[in-house]
Amino acid sequence: MALPPLFDRLRLPVIGSPLFIISCPELVIAQCKAGIVGSFPALNARPQSQLDEWLHQITEELSAWNRDNPDAPAAPYAVNQIVHKSNERLEADLHTCAKWQVPITITSLGAREELNTAVHSWGGITLHDVIDDRYAHKAIEKGADGLILVCAGAGGHAGKLNPFAFTQEVRQWFDGPVALSGAIANGGAVLAAQAAGADLAYIGSPFIATVEGKADDAYKAGIVEGRASDIIYTNLFTGVHGNYLRASIEAAGLDADALPESDPSKMNFGSGGNSKAKAWKDIWGSGQGIGAVSKVEPAADLIARLDAEYAAAKARLLG
Ligand SMILES: Cc1cc2nc3c(=O)[nH]c(=O)nc-3n(C[C@H](O)[C@H](O)[C@H](O)COP(=O)(O)O)c2cc1C
Repeated sequence: MALPPLFDRLRLPVIGSPLFIISCPELVIAQCKAGIVGSFPALNARPQSQLDEWLHQITEELSAWNRDNPDAPAAPYAVNQIVHKSNERLEADLHTCAKWQVPITITSLGAREELNTAVHSWGGITLHDVIDDRYAHKAIEKGADGLILVCAGAGGHAGKLNPFAFTQEVRQWFDGPVALSGAIANGGAVLAAQAAGADLAYIGSPFIATVEGKADDAYKAGIVEGRASDIIYTNLFTGVHGNYLRASIEAAGLDADALPESDPSKMNFGSGGNSKAKAWKDIWGSGQGIGAVSKVEPAADLIARLDAEYAAAKARLLG
């Protein structure tokens, strides 16, 4: 099935995925202007009233860009909603998104029919992120338009499935929009995601090391220096399994190779979970793909690199 028309404006089949604390209007706007979907978690706008200001800024700047660049219009943007009982802002945030008719809503940690209906009522589409085929079925049954397959090696809350295995299963029954996620960090991997059956690559960790990303310099340096073997998969910090940089775990005085299990009932996104160190702020989320990141640079330069690598991989494989 073809992607919804709003994806026609993409220069590269990529979504810059939402990053807690790090994604901000400057990063989203740079991503969209460079031709990939930019996104941010609604919870990054604090207090809640700031969400309205951010959506105003993004809408105005992208409209001005489109007026001045009719031949290279900006890609659409997405807002991520954490659909978990610990998110007390969900209703207010949806109300604000309705006002700005947010084009794409990415839902995580819970699928809800009424949320999909609300997004459809203003003409938006929803993509739900899932870590296995059972959750994928549930998301589509509840009315999501597309799926994000969060596979092994993805930054933040990640699954355990191999991307080939997961994509193959989903494509047996679903022909709608699919984005693939997990350690995709060069243009060849974007093409590989498409070859495997996905429509889009969903890329997070490389955008931490951008000028626009709201991460400490030490965190950005950790992404530049880190390799796949520096990533630790644990549920200690939020109650849900995720991938984090070893150096940040050790800096918190913990033995990264002998972390205790967390109690999932204490899950609270954004808190320190069962540990005193604060997830996302002190404990740095990262996927395994960061070996491909060699410097901190503007998001537009990172996207230009991905684009050139994608074209080269296509030429090499497809002639
Ligand atoms: C630091 C960090 C914060 C994240 N925060 C969120 C979030 O708030 N909401 C969400 O849906 N996904 C979040 N993710 C997951 C990403 O959106 C995406 O699934 C993941 O980064 C893709 O894998 P990659 O980092 O290997 O590219 C986060 C990931 C990282 C690394």
